[in-house]
Amino acid sequence: MCAEILRRHPLQVISRGLALDLQRNITGWALAYAPLAYWPPFVVFDYMKQVNMAVFTDITDPDYRDQLLEIERAYRVTIDSIEGITAGSSDTKFKIFVKEHDEPLVLTIHETPDVTPAGLTSEESKQMLSYVDYLAKAIPSATDRLGRPVNVHVLQLLKAYPQSKYEAPFLELTFAGCKKPVSLVPFIQGRSFLNSPEELIAPQDVFRAGKALAAFLSISQSYPEAASFDDFEFGLFVDEINRIAANKEGLARLGYMLSEHQLQERDAAEKGWAYIAEMKEFGQDLLHCWHKLRDVESAFKSALIHGDLFTDNTMIDESGRFILLDFSETRYGSMGLDLGISLNSWASQNGLLVMENVINFLRAFDGVIPFNADAISLIPVFAQIGAYRWETFRIQRLEMQDPRQQSMRSPEEFQSLRYAWREVQALFDGARSVQELA
Ligand SMILES: Nc1ncnc2c1ncn2[C@@H]1O[C@H](COP(=O)(O)OP(=O)(O)OP(=O)(O)O)[C@@H](O)[C@H]1O
Ligand SMILES: [Mg+2]
Repeated sequence: MCAEILRRHPLQVISRGLALDLQRNITGWALAYAPLAYWPPFVVFDYMKQVNMAVFTDITDPDYRDQLLEIERAYRVTIDSIEGITAGSSDTKFKIFVKEHDEPLVLTIHETPDVTPAGLTSEESKQMLSYVDYLAKAIPSATDRLGRPVNVHVLQLLKAYPQSKYEAPFLELTFAGCKKPVSLVPFIQGRSFLNSPEELIAPQDVFRAGKALAAFLSISQSYPEAASFDDFEFGLFVDEINRIAANKEGLARLGYMLSEHQLQERDAAEKGWAYIAEMKEFGQDLLHCWHKLRDVESAFKSALIHGDLFTDNTMIDESGRFILLDFSETRYGSMGLDLGISLNSWASQNGLLVMENVINFLRAFDGVIPFNADAISLIPVFAQIGAYRWETFRIQRLEMQDPRQQSMRSPEEFQSLRYAWREVQALFDGARSVQELA
């Protein structure tokens, strides 16, 4: 499991080298912490020497160790060892072992916007974690149209472990001048889905994902605090592309990085310009559709959507439960959008649509939340909007030369997908039921 995560997140492997420095300094730290810790210094020594750091949050930072001590105190646990899992675009995750518990736990540091552009403010993290708390309790009761249970789950936040008077799924602690909330959940022993170029996701897994998404949305609809979240605003992505279009240096870098062959500086700039010009045009078309979607809103209800239900944000645990992870992209918006976003991941391979899996996913979804004809005709539009949004994220990172781009799928994958959806749109337009798409 861990080997798989490391393979998928090469940056983590790089950061392992730094753990050596950590060990070299360990005696100094243990001494420095002796007056602060209410444990003997060897306890600090004991877990710190095993740390593999994740990318954003450097656990060797003295301010950080303060936070670890706070976490131990608040959760009433003694951390035995820590390993970095991964740093995504908005958080840093550690697998931790605590003395009081046989199974490993996952500690997430929710990064703030001053650390990563996608980071959530302290208030937003709090909002998101309260929502996750609600989902964890409510989702197990989700059923399909026939009233049969859908085996989908969200991890329960460990509010306090073991039982104590603390009742906080996250803590607000100030260090290094910023606040970073944390959360603690069980570590899942299970499997992830690889969206690999070689291997197609099994049809039965695609089916489970479609059912899980609909079950999640049917529960999410009733979340009482939904209105406090931001709306999904597609126009922001189009604005972002317009901004990039005006950045000459960024365009040259972008053109260079998009090219398989090394280009002369001028050719690179032209390639970047052509790519972005095409995105601008497509963005305007989609924005037009987006505004029109409001008129047919009845086709898909609005709810808090996951916003990022790609294969890498789900797992199946050992008992076969389908687990939804990573709610950092949660927004208020049309359920059709969540469907479109997910389809880009579950029903494609190498930037190509796999129609059999599109249908599998939709049939499963329809088994929980039935589609009407209007809703079916809008699926490709929502899917194009989802693809465009992901392409924008990737382009932004290329423009910024973000090293994490190396471990990600390319923007061209999403470019190819939005065209692919446009091509199949006619198929959806006439269909009155999902069965008719086959
Ligand atoms: N509780 C858990 N147990 C085991 N593995 C986990 C757990 N939570 C996350 N993972 C693994 O770590 C990966 C990344 O987790 P997650 O999607 O929550 O964060 P992220 O993508 O790093 O964050 P971001 O929201 O910042 O992009 C998952 O794909 C999964 O493989
Ligand atoms: Mg994720």
